[in-house]
Amino acid sequence: MKKIGIIGAMEEEIKRIKELMEDVNIKSIASMDFYEGRLEGVALVVVRSGIGKVNGALCTQILVDRYGVDLVINTGVAGSLRNEIDIADIVLSTDALQHDVDATGFGYELGVIPRMEQSIFEADPELITLAKSVCKRVLPGLGVHTGRIVSGDQFISDANKKEWLVKSFNGYCTEMEGAAIAQAAYLNKLPFLIIRAISDKADNSAEMAYSEFEAIAIDNTVLLLKELIKELNK
Ligand code: ADE
Repeated sequence: MKKIGIIGAMEEEIKRIKELMEDVNIKSIASMDFYEGRLEGVALVVVRSGIGKVNGALCTQILVDRYGVDLVINTGVAGSLRNEIDIADIVLSTDALQHDVDATGFGYELGVIPRMEQSIFEADPELITLAKSVCKRVLPGLGVHTGRIVSGDQFISDANKKEWLVKSFNGYCTEMEGAAIAQAAYLNKLPFLIIRAISDKADNSAEMAYSEFEAIAIDNTVLLLKELIKELNK
């Protein structure tokens, strides 16, 4: 049976999943609490990584080294980078990159990590297909989009910065951990998927919208995650 690692940056993003788990064993490693147990009969490790790329990558490596997870799912909220992607909609990652990597002064394209074979990390196609079909079933009527997620150690709340991001990387949404988790998964040859619900539009209204819609966005990802886990056990 597969063991699934689930990472949320913030407590709100994983609280409900943790509450639903059984046979839970909690261990604190690197100041992160790892909840190992079962949900719907599936072996899970759920953890709050903390915000930002370093936390996301470190957390993924611990899931690999200490728990031997077979796949990683990163869940949480994100800012939309496209007009057609609305608040509360879901974005499933096709791939992920880090928008704040800039070695252009050294002759590299924006977002390219020097001396790495890859800087754009592709999500697992089977996980994408499965998540899409689960979305259709459990969240009918909600916009579900599959595309690139761009991550950086920045909360994007400025229309000009957003425009630059859109032009430079063609992303669907932006957040602060996904691509770092993706890079760690890639280095460990581990399948991954990022599932994000839109909490704001990553523009000058982002901060206000975020506080208002965060809870709704999280409700949707929790519902999706619960059903996806069941499917992964089939
Ligand atoms: N997470 C949710 N909204 C975000 C934004 N606008 N920028 C970065 N991370 C986010």
